[in-house]
Amino acid sequence: MQGRHLLLAAMMAALSIGVQAAEGNAEAGKANTSACIGCHGIPGYRTSFPEVYSVPKLGGQHPAYLVRALQAYKAGERSHPSMQGIAGSLSEQDMADLAAYYGGAQ
Ligand code: HEC
Repeated sequence: MQGRHLLLAAMMAALSIGVQAAEGNAEAGKANTSACIGCHGIPGYRTSFPEVYSVPKLGGQHPAYLVRALQAYKAGERSHPSMQGIAGSLSEQDMADLAAYYGGAQ
């Protein structure tokens, strides 16, 4: 019984650390979008230039998905030259902030 209790406490501690690390500040993220707007357009717009090439819509996506995508570009797991370059210059906090902003925008 006591062992289970400890395990639960450990899991809750790990969970709260995880939540904290993923917590983004939408206001800070908004300030950073000047680097994204040229291609991703205004949040809520699907693409900036539909007739030229398609850029995925960011507004309204799940924040965790956006962070994961940015981490994957940074790590080279996803390949796209411009996104790799951009994600490579973002910190974990930048990613969380941007994701909070885009994830909250519909
Ligand atoms: C030079 C143009 C350009 C700029 C600037 C740019 N992006 Fe992108 N982004 C793209 C393109 C094109 C893709 C799709 C790439 C692919 O097919 O993997 C993409 C993909 C993404 C994805 C994955 C979306 C999905 O649904 O899988 C995310 C997240 C993202 N960009 C975030 C950002 C953020 C945040 C910024 C600003 C810090 C930014 N991008 C700036 C062109 C750009």
